[in-house]
Amino acid sequence: MTHAPKLTILDDGDAVASEAARTIAAVIAATPGAVLGLATGRTPLAVYARLREDVAAGKLSFEGVRSFNLDEYLGLPPEHPASYHSYMRREFFDHVDLCAGDWHLPDGMADDPAAAGGRYEVAIRKAGGIDLQLLGIGENGHIGFNEPGAPFDSRTRKVALAASTIAANASEFPDGQTPPSHALTMGIATILEARRIVLLATGPKKAKALGAMLSGPVDPAVPASALRLHPAVTILCDEEAASCLHDGIAAVR
Ligand code: F6R
Repeated sequence: MTHAPKLTILDDGDAVASEAARTIAAVIAATPGAVLGLATGRTPLAVYARLREDVAAGKLSFEGVRSFNLDEYLGLPPEHPASYHSYMRREFFDHVDLCAGDWHLPDGMADDPAAAGGRYEVAIRKAGGIDLQLLGIGENGHIGFNEPGAPFDSRTRKVALAASTIAANASEFPDGQTPPSHALTMGIATILEARRIVLLATGPKKAKALGAMLSGPVDPAVPASALRLHPAVTILCDEEAASCLHDGIAAVR
């Protein structure tokens, strides 16, 4: 059975970030020991900025919250500036009262990525599952690093990155360094087990992917279309990202 995600179209990226931060704060307030699924990339940067501000202002606390990130590059040590470990510490973990030991990312340095993927799945399950999963969307429709063709029953595992993903993320790497070719990512089935999912899409480059996710077939060719199999998905996007959505799609503006 498919579901229609709740689509909220906001003026711009700032409004998307504020709404996402409000949603995260509401889940934390309503769920003792909430478990968050977190994303990296450019889109959630403003969300982390809002959350940092709220913590600094004493309006929000992450004490008791646990988190699991979607993905990490394979072969990149945690201290590498372009690793998602570094990103999360720089943008979020080092500035909020989330305890060390309560946040998790896949182990990009694992000798045995299959075993590391299995351990990550067990850790998520032991934490009681993810209450709220935050997602971005790739220009090719990927979620996490589940590139087009990723099976809907996939779990945390080693994947090859699409050439377009490597190109899109190259600017995050120091001059002359190219991103790794592989990553460890939560699978689509892992993502679909979250109790609630919020996908963020901002800017004109995401318009085609959002259109394909919502108007095309539910098919592994567009990994984000799998979210139509989940009953509690909210899409927060700006006008630019919504520009390929046709009139038949119900949206709250
Ligand atoms: C990040 C992730 C990716 C990004 C996507 C969009 O943890 O898993 O799916 O969400 O590539 O990236 P940005 O936000 O940089 O456009």
